Amino acid sequence: MCGIVGAVSERDVQGILLEGLRRLEYRGYDSAGMAVIGGDHSVQRAREVGKVASLAAAMKTNPLAGHLGIAHTRWATHGEPSQINAHPHMSGDRLAIVHNGIIENYQELREELRGEGFEFTSQTDTEVVAHLIEKNYRSLGSLYDSVRAAIARLRGAYALAVVHADEPDHLVVCREGSPLVIGVGIGENFIASDQLALLPVTDRFMFLEEGDIADIRKDGIAILDREGQSVEREITRFEHGADSADKGEYRHFMLKEIYEQPRVIKATMEGRVTNTRVLEQALGTDAENLLENVRHVQIIACGTSYHAGMVARYWIEELAGVPCSVEVASEFRYRKHVIQQDTLFLCISQSGETADTLAALRQAKKAGFRAALAICNVPGSSLVRESDLVIMTQAGPEIGVASTKAFTTQLTALLIFTLALARQNGLPEEQEAEIVKAIHLVPGQVSDVLALDGEIAEMSKAFMDKHHSLFLGRGSQFPVALEGALKLKEISYIHAEAYPAGELKHGPLALVDSEMPVVTVAPNNDLVEKLKSNLEEVRARGGELFVFADKMANVKPDEGIHVMQLPSVHPITAPIVYTVPLQLLSYHVAVLKGTDVDQPRNLAKSVTVE
Ligand code: G6P
Repeated sequence: MCGIVGAVSERDVQGILLEGLRRLEYRGYDSAGMAVIGGDHSVQRAREVGKVASLAAAMKTNPLAGHLGIAHTRWATHGEPSQINAHPHMSGDRLAIVHNGIIENYQELREELRGEGFEFTSQTDTEVVAHLIEKNYRSLGSLYDSVRAAIARLRGAYALAVVHADEPDHLVVCREGSPLVIGVGIGENFIASDQLALLPVTDRFMFLEEGDIADIRKDGIAILDREGQSVEREITRFEHGADSADKGEYRHFMLKEIYEQPRVIKATMEGRVTNTRVLEQALGTDAENLLENVRHVQIIACGTSYHAGMVARYWIEELAGVPCSVEVASEFRYRKHVIQQDTLFLCISQSGETADTLAALRQAKKAGFRAALAICNVPGSSLVRESDLVIMTQAGPEIGVASTKAFTTQLTALLIFTLALARQNGLPEEQEAEIVKAIHLVPGQVSDVLALDGEIAEMSKAFMDKHHSLFLGRGSQFPVALEGALKLKEISYIHAEAYPAGELKHGPLALVDSEMPVVTVAPNNDLVEKLKSNLEEVRARGGELFVFADKMANVKPDEGIHVMQLPSVHPITAPIVYTVPLQLLSYHVAVLKGTDVDQPRNLAKSVTVE
């Protein structure tokens, strides 16, 4: 996590770096800092605890002037959030560095460097790298060579940007396991953890490969790969509008992103479905070949993306008749597997940079899966580059830490993929046409749910003073309940647990009383009658129920039962539509509680460390 940004330019870089940090704040926000090489060829540094706004305020009184600089917004891993642990870190007063990632062997390097007389002022792993480069600099006299020599000794994951006051015309960057992109300007160049940070200054980007080290100057970029060969990396243009990192008229990014869902779901369908069928070729030129003979699907993901995978399992088994397993990446990567023949490995990730998901993919590629398919939202991300087949979600940049539009577009992409797989496995044309028709209705149905925003805001008042809550669902609505509970805990800090409704009586029912609101998602599917009995079980214990149901489900409001009527939806697409009211519910509870909706405490959007 953490976000890094750097610039070398004809103009002062402070403003560029501060704006870059604001845009990277979703990656971490417990402290921020900047180092600039001034006209007098000295390093000036500013560091503040708290959000980027605190740094910006401090820099108003003490601006840093210079044409070369690096900056950082932190999500603490080694050492508490404090000014001393904030980046940039320095070795002496000439070298400054920012780092995203984790250096695993930092303890042994620290001991070694200490033995050689280097003094440590922070508890971070990063400071070790600063001293290691400075040590090399003393003998090599070149920043580029010193960084190269230093990284040969590092174990772990990192993206680094380094400047030295003796070489005030360039910065040196490298990546190994953490994202880093170069923004290509005219007479100026930039680097950042994410393209979003640099959109105000460029729309042309170069993605470094793992192991690359680059020398960035105003008028040139030189890259060496891991083997030390000089390489060129392709320049791509950013496709989404430059304002996508802006809140616009909305109070929070999360709300904006919830409201964008009808449009981005549609965009994710575009070019991939006709009125009656899925266009398999749109999944990639090799899709047909790779999907043929798939006998099993193994899905891997983390967080919200994992919940999308859980929904997909219901679809894949029901429509394609192919067995499907789903596992969180952090578990999958650390255990032995029995890999069935012709298993497709499917990774789902909004960012495409989640460390555990990438590690699982890399293992899988060695382990003999049939092919690796990625469902991802960030073009050029590591996941996209390393997979055989990619379905891009078209959610556009998602800034709110709590994932919303990424999830519903992942579901859309997963359903399209399922239909392509199902066709290979004999799904009748009429059934495919029926589901494709249902997919076309989703954007409109999501808009209908958004129109209930006011009512949902009203409902949210009942949660404001509660400390715990339960979410129930059956079948493919169980993962929707899990996602609803995750949203509530992430942004309102209310403890929320989700259960398959049938499990209620095996434990959680013991917790139910008037202080424990129970949220239920109940579209009118063939499980609704069973679900109603579960609701009675709650009611009989004095629990207060909040039910999201369609008219046909025939759940009547009564004492202790609040019913929010949702549009009638096809049972297959219901998980997409039923997710939206739960997003709105969490959003409004968080707003009422006054929590930091877009940047909830302790969390980060892109988890590029283990
Ligand atoms: C973090 C984010 C979640 C996200 C998860 C997986 O925990 O806060 O919103 O679902 O990472 O991220 P990915 O980018 O792989 O989908």
